[in-house]
Amino acid sequence: MTLTRRFRFAASHRLNTHALSPEENAALYGKCNNPFGHGHDYVLDVTLAGAPDASGQIVNREALDVLVRDAVLQHLDHRNLNCDVAELRGQVATTENLATAIEAMLLRGWNLPAHLARVRISETERNTFELEVNAK
Ligand code: NI
Repeated sequence: MTLTRRFRFAASHRLNTHALSPEENAALYGKCNNPFGHGHDYVLDVTLAGAPDASGQIVNREALDVLVRDAVLQHLDHRNLNCDVAELRGQVATTENLATAIEAMLLRGWNLPAHLARVRISETERNTFELEVNAK
């Protein structure tokens, strides 16, 4: 059985790689390469899988909220993803890379009985990214 819990954070980013020239970056990333960046209201869905325990729950919601807040949200909310997030250093701040960074941030502090099954991020109404996490 799975539980998906939804979280929200706001952050800014700019898509740019030092491997390319300014002109090539502009051609590759379009307006997402604008020099001073732009923001998104990200929606983060964290999915856990496991069996309900004696309380009838897969996971204690409060424990999950504390983990996501401490491991992820406080590092991302109202931050600049290019500058403020260690897990993204040296990478382009795409939401694909952000999903992988969030997986690493969650697993580092994971202390819950259910396992992390999926990280899903919506960047806009049209762009949603899903990362399936392999069970250990
Ligand atoms: Ni963007």
